[in-house]
Amino acid sequence: MKVRSEARPATGKLGVLTPGLGAVASTFVAGVEAVRRGLASPIGSLTQMQTIRLGKRTEDRSPLLKDFVPLAGLEDLVFGAWDPVPDNGYQSALKAGVLDRHEHVNPLKDFLERIKPMPAVFDAHYVKKLEGTNVKKGKSKRDLAEQIREDIRRFKSENGANRLVMVWCGSTEIFIRPGRAHETLASFEKAMQENDESIAPSMLYAYAAIMEGIPYANGAPNLSADFPALEQLAIDQGVPIVGKDFKTGQTLIKTVLAPAFKARMLGLNGWYSTNILGNRDGEVLDDPESFKTKEESKLGVLEHVLQPAMYPDLYGEIHHKVRINYYPPRGDNKEGWDNIDLFGWLGYPMQIKVNFLCRDSILAAPIVLDLALLLDLAHRSGMKGIQEWLSFFFKTPQTVPGLYPEHDLFIQHMKLKNTLRWVAGEEQITHLGDDYDNDLVG
Ligand SMILES: NC(=O)c1ccc[n+]([C@@H]2O[C@H](COP(=O)([O-])OP(=O)(O)OC[C@H]3O[C@@H](n4cnc5c(N)ncnc54)[C@H](O)[C@@H]3O)[C@@H](O)[C@H]2O)c1
Repeated sequence: MKVRSEARPATGKLGVLTPGLGAVASTFVAGVEAVRRGLASPIGSLTQMQTIRLGKRTEDRSPLLKDFVPLAGLEDLVFGAWDPVPDNGYQSALKAGVLDRHEHVNPLKDFLERIKPMPAVFDAHYVKKLEGTNVKKGKSKRDLAEQIREDIRRFKSENGANRLVMVWCGSTEIFIRPGRAHETLASFEKAMQENDESIAPSMLYAYAAIMEGIPYANGAPNLSADFPALEQLAIDQGVPIVGKDFKTGQTLIKTVLAPAFKARMLGLNGWYSTNILGNRDGEVLDDPESFKTKEESKLGVLEHVLQPAMYPDLYGEIHHKVRINYYPPRGDNKEGWDNIDLFGWLGYPMQIKVNFLCRDSILAAPIVLDLALLLDLAHRSGMKGIQEWLSFFFKTPQTVPGLYPEHDLFIQHMKLKNTLRWVAGEEQITHLGDDYDNDLVG
């Protein structure tokens, strides 16, 4: 069995940098602090709550993930952010309205107020519905990227951080197709210099992180680091990267239900998904260009799980629609409806309706934490480039060219855990069970 060289230990502080200090990021930092102060539990976080089975079922070895692999502890995390909106962490958490003001925001006021967003690289061309006042100025996009690199270095020394990770928690940018500018590092750097329109702000953060040797995760569906120039740069710099678009509400459920239909060879002819959402993310997604980026991300899922080319009779003609409607009264408490038209034995039709009253940022915050800790582990373990084993956390998993993304939540979960076993030099679990049968019989 291939065993990795041992991970470098998680000594000292780990800085978690988020471009974007909105609903998700403020819920994440406030949540970590609430857990550190014993005010709440880190529910939804694999790294904090999940166990991992090792060896045979009869061995009864199931440590917590955080005791199994050397992860940074919550007490070692320090936080930094950029945002074109100058609100500090406290103001942002209050505005987002995700966490209860009295129970979870006011008691953390001193801590949250200290998180002041650095001026952002922001351009309203890429996020139409926002106005920014806390924004960097620069001669060129390249110059702006260099300013982010300086921020990173300053943050590291001012906070005495030993290592850093960056997780994009910024708004969803307009849809951009990868083109010539994104092909090689040279073409990308030239395009930055020339202020090419195909270079969006999120790409500048990703470039800055990778150049500084910092792992980068993209929580939104925009390209950011999902193109050859930055993928190659990540490999050259020995930096793990991963994306895109946190898998939280409706898509999480979709990637649970669709694999169930396929596993039982039940057919599908329609899946209509609609949402109402009233937070700032919903407002940004009300712009058709940002929505297009999100729509592409949400639509790809069924195609890859159901493999219509392999099962044309079951999945050859699916009507898949996704809608997001901005509806302010709901704030961050999204409501999603799914109507699923499926068919069974001899083609008889059936329906399933799902009504998920979820809380977007409550589902996303533990993902930010897990990604930060697992990317840091990957980095210390010498892993670089796209980290496909973290697909579990994403709607549109980034993959190496030529490989289709794996969307099935259960395959993703098994892959994640087997990768951790591999990192730690433990045997991977195949669920074959042949030896148990022999043991029992013999
Ligand atoms: N909450 C979820 O369930 C979920 C799931 C998947 C993806 N996402 C994505 O995560 C991102 C954050 O979601 P949210 O609910 O916190 O949104 P939000 O609107 O509350 O926060 C986004 C923040 O990013 C800032 N921002 C925009 N452009 C920026 C830039 N160039 N640099 C730095 N900051 C910038 C905005 O000012 C805002 O404060 C969105 O892109 C969203 O689509 C969220």
